[in-house]
Amino acid sequence: MENLKVACIGAGASGTGHIALIEKYAPGSMVAFCDLDRSLFDKIINSYPGGSGAKEAGDFKTDAASLRKDLKNIPFYTDPEEMFAREDINTVIIATYCCAHYEMVEKCVKRNMNILLEKPIAIVETDIEKTWQLLKNYQKVATVNFTMRGAPVSLAAKRHVKNGTIGKIVSVQYINNVHYGDCYFRGWMRTKEKIGNLFLQKATHDFDIINSIIGLKPVSIAAFGSRQIYGGNMPNDLTCDECDRKWTCPMSIYKLELEAGKPLPGKNNRLCVYAREIDIDDNQTVIIQYEGGVTASYCQTFNAPQQGGQRGGYFIGNDGIMHLRYYGQFQETSGGQILVGNSQLDITRYHEKPGSRIHEVYDWNGHGHFDGTEYGIMAKLDLLNGRPTEVANTIAEGYISAKMCLAAQKSIETHKVVDIDLNL
Ligand SMILES: NC(=O)c1ccc[n+]([C@@H]2O[C@H](COP(=O)([O-])OP(=O)(O)OC[C@H]3O[C@@H](n4cnc5c(N)ncnc54)[C@H](O)[C@@H]3O)[C@@H](O)[C@H]2O)c1
Repeated sequence: MENLKVACIGAGASGTGHIALIEKYAPGSMVAFCDLDRSLFDKIINSYPGGSGAKEAGDFKTDAASLRKDLKNIPFYTDPEEMFAREDINTVIIATYCCAHYEMVEKCVKRNMNILLEKPIAIVETDIEKTWQLLKNYQKVATVNFTMRGAPVSLAAKRHVKNGTIGKIVSVQYINNVHYGDCYFRGWMRTKEKIGNLFLQKATHDFDIINSIIGLKPVSIAAFGSRQIYGGNMPNDLTCDECDRKWTCPMSIYKLELEAGKPLPGKNNRLCVYAREIDIDDNQTVIIQYEGGVTASYCQTFNAPQQGGQRGGYFIGNDGIMHLRYYGQFQETSGGQILVGNSQLDITRYHEKPGSRIHEVYDWNGHGHFDGTEYGIMAKLDLLNGRPTEVANTIAEGYISAKMCLAAQKSIETHKVVDIDLNL
């Protein structure tokens, strides 16, 4: 493998997070970055020498206090074409708004780059299919960033099912009650135009986790969804900072901080959740049929209270039940410090004494995505260096999950069961 020469297109929370992580594990490999503007990059990178990471770094915040000082000076471009023309690059992180993913993949494929693509692979049917066709037999590394796949608890759950701990899989019951769900309505992610829907933004991870744990392909899907909490008639550019209902509105970030100890979001995520432009659903319920008649249910909501986040579910086999809880224990201070954070697996089996069970705890305190962030980036470096990894996050997996999201949305819109037409 030649030396890594990495560029990032879209250097916000995720992109700059990847930049910091790549530099942490492969110092000196970041060459350049491209964005419409560099303000998030500057804010996040400049916050690292103190070791804390800015709020804007979100879940990709890492302990990168020892980053090289001149990282903030790597060349910056607003046009990816100009960056490709001027810089010597062999690998590209794509972390723009989701609607621009396909356009950037196409540019990278033309130049035969390794591609580290953020999820979802794209947000509309044509782009999802075109991305898949471009990358299906791609000779370079191409991955989609399903951050929870590197989490030790995800790998353990997958191994249990593969090794037959609960026997043959029969069904799955999975939920995602998002306690930071309001954040999706406080920034750019709140319109169909930029993200498609919250299946593509959120459920795509969980669909991928279910697919990976049970090792089966989805066949058809049915879903319902609606918007119950967010959206309204408030101006699109209003923020909690400027609003005269700052101390009275139940969804004010200040009131939530005061009354529920909810950490204040970064300045880029403070828009009013009752804005006019909000046009995506905020709760969805899905049922999925897999190969062999295996069934799954999935629900996501975006208005769980600060201490009410739940993610995971029951994996039911003919020989037992595995309960996966990403938020086994979770407590965060209003300053954003996590006091306790772990994921848990509980397995009860048919042929086991009443007091017996498998109980496993996976501590992720201090690490994002249930400890998947760092292991995920290390897996990407393994792939780029030709080493095997359990966390390959293939484009095929990204394609299947994105197709499930589209099919679920189509089911909501048509009130019909939708077959998942995989062109693998
Ligand atoms: N894997 C995960 O767990 C995870 C978590 C959050 C976000 N994401 C994904 O990461 C991507 C970015 O989300 P984010 O939260 O980092 O958002 P963000 O707003 O923090 O960053 C996005 C950046 O992309 C830039 N950008 C947008 N369109 C561009 C274009 N055409 N050319 C160049 N730059 C462009 C924006 O200016 C911004 O700086 C999204 O696709 C999102 O789905 C993934």
